[in-house]
Formats: sequence, structure tokens, C-alpha cells
Amino acid sequence: TWTTSGVIDAQVEAIREKAGTGKVICGLSGGVDSAVAAALVQRAIGDRLTCVFVDHGLLRAGEAEQVENDYVAATGIKLKVVDAADRFLAALAGVRDPEEKRKIIGREFIRVFERAARQVVAEGGADGTDGEVRFLVQGTLYPDVVESGGGEGAANIKSHHNVGGLPDDLQFGLIEPLRTLFKDEVRAVGAELGLPEAMVWRQPFPGPGLGIRIVGDITADRLATLRAADLIARDELTAAGLDREIWQCPVVLLADVRSVGVQGDGRTYGHPIVLRPVSSDDAMTADWTRLPYEVLSRISTRITNEVDEVNRVVLDVTSKPPGTIEWE
Ligand code: XMP
Repeated sequence: TWTTSGVIDAQVEAIREKAGTGKVICGLSGGVDSAVAAALVQRAIGDRLTCVFVDHGLLRAGEAEQVENDYVAATGIKLKVVDAADRFLAALAGVRDPEEKRKIIGREFIRVFERAARQVVAEGGADGTDGEVRFLVQGTLYPDVVESGGGEGAANIKSHHNVGGLPDDLQFGLIEPLRTLFKDEVRAVGAELGLPEAMVWRQPFPGPGLGIRIVGDITADRLATLRAADLIARDELTAAGLDREIWQCPVVLLADVRSVGVQGDGRTYGHPIVLRPVSSDDAMTADWTRLPYEVLSRISTRITNEVDEVNRVVLDVTSKPPGTIEWE
């Protein structure tokens, strides 16, 4: 029978065996999955694990700081922060196709991890290991595998950046201790490992970040617009006490769409922001969340008043299926 401590013991054992005498790196995204995967690996091999947080320029407001401060404080994990925003934005310039964006982001993540691994090897001293980094830890979950076409007979719905988006010439073996688990099980494992409540209950956020929430090509200006709108939506949902009620609420910028508006005494020709609040147990299926009208109204008023270039806020009332949770 399935018990949280049984899963932890089995994974810790399997990780120790796989890692052998080498070192391991782990990509941290700030989300629950990679945080729990890293905590499991830390329990298995301690300081032989180095975590790498990649700031790809597609993050939401405050995310880098959260990982740098809160996660390190809670776990004492060894962390490298890499500012790779220029590199990701250059690789994504002019790209509009969702699968192409996902593949590019997956590939760039790996290139950054490879460089970080070389640094870990170069910095290594007489620490009782063989000095090599052969494995990369990822927080891949069972639904990520299925929807990237990895399950038996499964169709490729979208290539999650850490499954179908990996480059062919990958130089690491993978350690994926959560690969058979669903999100609620991962949260249980995280809680049992002593991770803080705020971390365990954080809403999902995709690894490719805001890059798959801009419909159209990605630019620094568009990212700034989306980041501002997203922050307002998150603030208002939190203020209304709705964080646990909703599974997640993607905020999407329709960068390729413009509509006519009027603000002050002038015409505007701006972009719509889509709110996509969903309720779900495992992200495999989802329903749109019936948010209170007053909350929707506050979010809409604030976004259109406070964010330049946005003159309309629309609500996505589609379940999954037929929609997916993210727009790309
Ligand atoms: P979809 O859009 O497929 O999303 O209904 C299901 C869940 O997965 C998240 N998601 C991702 N997470 N890398 C991730 O780490 C990805 O490439 C990715 N794509 C989607 C999404 O936010 C939702 O929770």
C-alpha cells in the first residue's frame, strides 16, 4: 500500500544507488515539484547536491527572490542562481509557435545546467566524491509524462519543457523521483519532508513560465506588461482568500490581438488580458472556477487602470477538456 514515508524511503534508497559516488545538480523552478524533488535528493546525498535556479527572464514578479531567500532558508540547500534572461530572450526572438517555444526553452535550460555542472566540477575539492556531475534532478510528475506523449498509447498534447522538450544530445542521466506521482502525493511528500506550508501549497506554475502565456512572440516589453497584470490578479485573489480554492490562475496576454477602447477622453487600441482560473485535482482535467463577480471586477478595473497597453480583461470559461489549462 501507498504511504508517504514508504515513497520517501524507497526514493532515497534509489537516488543513493543511482548517484553512486558522484555529484548531482537539480534545476529549481520555485514550484512545488522541483522543491520536493530537491529535498528528496538532499535527504539522500546531502551536500553532493547543488541546486540551480535559472532566471530565464520569463518569471513572475518576486519569484527569483522567493527561491533565493525562502527556499534556502528552509532547507539549507546549496544554490547557484544563473541570470540567463538575455540568452533565453535571444533564442525565443520572433518565435510564435507554442511547441517551438517549449522546445527552445527546454534546450536552453539544459545548456545552462551543463554550464553550471562544469562549474560544480571545477570548484570541487577533496570532498570524498569522484568530482563528476552525471545526473540532473527534475521534478517531473506523472501527468507531465502522460501529456508529453510518454504514457502508454498517449497522444502528445504538449511537450512539457522537462519531458518532450529535452534536447537529443542530453549529457546527463536523469533523476526523477516524482515521475510516478500526482500533485497531491507530491504535496504530501513535501509536507512529510518538512518543507514550509507556503511552499507545499504553492499553486502550479509552468517551467516555461510567462513564455507560454504570451500568445504571439515574446519581447521584454510584452513580458513587463504581462508581469504587471499577473501580479495584480495574484494580489487580488490572495486578498480575497481564494488561493486554496483555485488550482491556479494563468494570466495570459493576447499580444497578437488588439481591440478598440476608450480611456479618459481618448481612443486606445490595446491588448486583452485573459484570466484563466481553474479548479482541478491533478491538472489532467479541470473546470473553470466560478470566481465572485466582485473579485473579477476589482482585477479588471485595476489591470486596465494600472497596466499600459491593456484595455480589456476577459474571462476564460472553458473546462479541460476541451481547453488545456495553459493557452499554449
Ligand atoms: P495544461 O496546459 O497541459 O497544463 O493543461 C497542465 C499543468 O501543467 C502545467 N504545465 C507545465 N509545467 N512545464 C511545467 O513544468 C511545462 O512545460 C508545462 N506546461 C504546462 C500547467 O501550468 C498546469 O498546471
